[in-house]
Amino acid sequence: MKKIEAICLLLLISIGCYAQIIPGAIWPDTKGNPVNAHGGGILYYNGTYYWYGEIKQGVTWRVPGSTWENYRVNAGGISCYSSKDLLHWKPEGVALQPVTTDSTSDLHVSKVIERPKVIYNKKTGKFVMWMHIDSQDYSYARSGVAVSDSPEGPFKYIRSVRPNGNMARDMTIFQDDDGDAYHFYSSEENQTMHICKLADDYLSHTGDDRRILVQHAREAPAVCKYNNRFYLFTSGCTGWSPNAASYATADSIMGTWTLHDNPCHGTDADSTYHAQSTYVLPVQGKKDTFIFMADRWNKTNLETSRYIWLPLTFDAEGTPGIQWEDQLMP
Ligand code: DGJ
Repeated sequence: MKKIEAICLLLLISIGCYAQIIPGAIWPDTKGNPVNAHGGGILYYNGTYYWYGEIKQGVTWRVPGSTWENYRVNAGGISCYSSKDLLHWKPEGVALQPVTTDSTSDLHVSKVIERPKVIYNKKTGKFVMWMHIDSQDYSYARSGVAVSDSPEGPFKYIRSVRPNGNMARDMTIFQDDDGDAYHFYSSEENQTMHICKLADDYLSHTGDDRRILVQHAREAPAVCKYNNRFYLFTSGCTGWSPNAASYATADSIMGTWTLHDNPCHGTDADSTYHAQSTYVLPVQGKKDTFIFMADRWNKTNLETSRYIWLPLTFDAEGTPGIQWEDQLMP
């Protein structure tokens, strides 16, 4: 290669023309640090994507006396990154700060703060974050809510609840086209998923709370809508260890939901490519283009967990499919 060509190539790389999403690789943010946003979700607002996730930092330890693989890091709060193209992620700082002093606080570093999802409420002009809040032994089983005037935060924590009195662990929020929002949460000791419609301001639950996938023991819910049908992707319940995904469908969001097989295909489909679902991202400006977002946990060193983003496609019958790709160009 001639010197001038080499310089042009370097220039292209440095301005990001060759950038791709590499599932499972370290994804540097625009400052060169690995993106730290696990169990995350994405909000698209005003031409920008905002990625929120769990900050996992520092030493991983196993909670003494736990009979299951209860590995933990101190809760680091919730991070926020912004991007226009899904490739270059600018760190926006800590959107929701953990609490270091008051050990009774839901946000104390000793607690569990997981799977944050943020939606924007057009009526109130507020950004609303819901997340799984728990004690170290996961017996607290609640959902926390925080609010902000801007997408980057800072978010102000309001409270945690057991929706309609139900246990709530892994969760997601789905905002429908009409603005109504729904909370999907693993309940009843993770044996049964629930869907609950949120109030108009998104800050509390209505009494419309349905049991779905009853006794199917699913967690890590991620939801999308395609061709007026709702799709719910979940994992089984095996701690931080991966397992096979499944999906469920419904013609109306409150059900009836029907459980189907694994949407993943090819090598490592039975372990969701060594990962666990967290969100389905509709790519803006590209009709019917979705990215299946998952976490590849490293349970003994959670800080080094990585992200698996893969295309989610639908065939003519509306059957979803996920296939491994070494690189993804959104
Ligand atoms: C599985 C959940 O999906 C994760 O978010 C986390 O809570 C781990 N369990 C903890 O073992």
